[in-house]
Amino acid sequence: MRKILEINDLKKLAKRRVPKMFFDYADSGAWTESTYRANEEDFKKIKLRQRVLVDMTNRSLESEMIGQKVSMPVALSPTGLTGMQHANGEMLAAQAAEEFGVPFTLSTMSICSIEDVASVTKKPFWFQLYVMKDRDFIADLINRAKAAKCGALVLTLDLQILGQRHKDLRNNLSAPPKFTLKNLWQMMTCPKWCMDMLQTDKRTFRNIAGHAKNVTDLSSLSLWTASQFDPKLNWNDVEWIKKIWGGKLILKGILDVEDAKMAVKTGADAILVSNHGGRQLDGAPSTISVLPEIVDAVGDMIEIHLDGGIRSGQDVLKALALGAKGTFIGRPFLYGLGALGKPGVTKALEIIRNELDISMALCGKKKIADLTHDVLYDFRPSKPKR
Ligand SMILES: Cc1cc2nc3c(=O)[nH]c(=O)nc-3n(C[C@H](O)[C@H](O)[C@H](O)COP(=O)(O)O)c2cc1C
Repeated sequence: MRKILEINDLKKLAKRRVPKMFFDYADSGAWTESTYRANEEDFKKIKLRQRVLVDMTNRSLESEMIGQKVSMPVALSPTGLTGMQHANGEMLAAQAAEEFGVPFTLSTMSICSIEDVASVTKKPFWFQLYVMKDRDFIADLINRAKAAKCGALVLTLDLQILGQRHKDLRNNLSAPPKFTLKNLWQMMTCPKWCMDMLQTDKRTFRNIAGHAKNVTDLSSLSLWTASQFDPKLNWNDVEWIKKIWGGKLILKGILDVEDAKMAVKTGADAILVSNHGGRQLDGAPSTISVLPEIVDAVGDMIEIHLDGGIRSGQDVLKALALGAKGTFIGRPFLYGLGALGKPGVTKALEIIRNELDISMALCGKKKIADLTHDVLYDFRPSKPKR
């Protein structure tokens, strides 16, 4: 653990410990992966203003996301199949986040169910919803999240149709994995992963299995899931969901000013500027490059969060300085989980906290609320031309 100093160290370790098909599932973007790469690369173009001789005592990273106190404004993104990076992955990551004081978001497409995660946590976690064609199932899912006292519903808007990731198709990805020779070989090279997996009964989509109608076995489960994403989803559905849910609502997947304006009209509590980590529309701009214009357009009307490409506390600082109130991390915590289980998720959060704290201090700032555009060199990430 002592040699793990940055998120990339966790990534390297996860690559050794997680079977290739599941490591690839995390480390991939749609088609050419240009948006996946741009998310990370555009952060690097932003330069920080070094300041000196500012009293640096009593620094704090505490702040709030949608009115909830957080030890730093970094939530864990919803990620599907997290329980395949490590046995009981969602339960372990939720516990690590709870102990650290940041929100954990459970995906609809998780391995561990809402009830599994609720059984091992004490504080409310957040739940991410994919709207599917079977609206009875969706209403039931929302009610299950309510019964588990989830603190926010994160409604994903950018996956009505699934983007194509070449690696998943080449790997013939499924959960649980099919017992082909290639898959068996991949698993045999990760003995610790196999041992842990053998000791859990949580190996398939437990939010869905046993809850959706006519889903009785694994093959009907995968057919059902693939056919369920709803291409007809539209802004009126948001109203329907908001009504059933009745709690804090975050709209995830906003990348365009016009959509941000529509999102404000729904009365949601926050928008999450996101391109699904570059996994949906390859060729779309990076999230950090569109953040400033979205903040200019709606920043005084709705809370704005951002995810995509955050690999360090410095990236968090840059997003906050450009107007985000909170951030989310996907792959950084998945790499931690794959590398070391729950302590790996904690390690990912510690790395980011340490980098954020030191960078803030060296920029002459003591509090999250002090982070404004003036910690950056006058920089506007290239605005996409329309
Ligand atoms: C392996 C993986 C699975 C994901 N599954 C979901 C999901 O089930 N629901 C969702 O809304 N977003 C999902 N996302 C997108 C993340 O919530 C988030 O937007 C993205 O990971 C942020 O980018 P980052 O990984 O660069 O931090 C997934 C991302 C990854 C990497």
